[in-house]
Amino acid sequence: MQLPRRNRILRRSASIRSMVAETVLRPADFIAPLFIDEGENTASPILSMPGYYRRSLDLTVREVKELYGMGIRSVLLFIKCKDELKDNTGKEAWNRNGLMQRSVKAIKDAVPEMLVMTDVALDPYSSYGHDGIVKDGEIVNDETVEALVKMSVSHAAAGADFVAPSDMMDGRIGAIRSGLEEEGFTQTGIMSYSAKYASCFYGPFRDALDSAPGFGDKKTYQMDTANRVEAIKETLMDVEEGADIVMVKPALAYLDIIREVKNAVEIPVSAYQVSGEYAMIKAAAQQGWLNEEKAIIETLTSIKRAGADLIATYFAREAVKLIN
Ligand code: PBG
Repeated sequence: MQLPRRNRILRRSASIRSMVAETVLRPADFIAPLFIDEGENTASPILSMPGYYRRSLDLTVREVKELYGMGIRSVLLFIKCKDELKDNTGKEAWNRNGLMQRSVKAIKDAVPEMLVMTDVALDPYSSYGHDGIVKDGEIVNDETVEALVKMSVSHAAAGADFVAPSDMMDGRIGAIRSGLEEEGFTQTGIMSYSAKYASCFYGPFRDALDSAPGFGDKKTYQMDTANRVEAIKETLMDVEEGADIVMVKPALAYLDIIREVKNAVEIPVSAYQVSGEYAMIKAAAQQGWLNEEKAIIETLTSIKRAGADLIATYFAREAVKLIN
């Protein structure tokens, strides 16, 4: 055969492949989610997330130091709220002395260069396990937004670099932006979970925080898996309202959405490789059915190739080790 083009030339060796690789993962691409609990010197394993822990604040600070030393530049904080502090207003969420607020302060004091992002939604604080306030069986929008603004301002006051609203209420990005401006927090960013789908892949996360909805599901606020155009609508509205970074979540089942969002906006796009995505890889690897290290790199590379500039992933630590 005489061929004018032989594509395999560029795949011939590891050196050539690395020279022409279009997508390269870097430690600073990753956002490490952290689960924080009350107490001291405790690390509780999460059954449905093998190898992942809910840590007390002292151990979390130690973890953040290590992550920073490895090259990771951002963490996303979630806290486990005590049952007796949960109610339908979610008011513990904006307690200036709450676990989240204390955690932000402690981490910023210990590692000032680490970017601290905070989850903004009422579910860990809600006696119903919903992201908003419940009235007559419905998750009410506008009152919830008021609560989210108070919550965001309290995170900014504690020193958060970015607040990350994950609740999917209407109008919350604009309201949070105005709330931050009014209180003089002109340097606090907003990473909006703009296209967050009502997904079964959040199951293990809800185990980690004991935050599963007490009734119904989240389909009246999180998006329907079937929809693509709606993701663009949601995202463009969040950009208009003042989001600095937008997010698609989950990641692997929504790579098409990540690409379309990336093409539609002129700000950084993040994607969240969620707890269920982590659990699937871990479970198959534990059975000996998948090579865990290869699955981590393949999925993260695919998510970045799809268009994610940043990736929140429970594999952040492993991924950095693997790419170094
Ligand atoms: C809270 C929140 C959830 C996740 C991030 N923030 C759970 C949910 O919406 O039910 C999921 C993260 C994961 O599964 O890793 N609103």
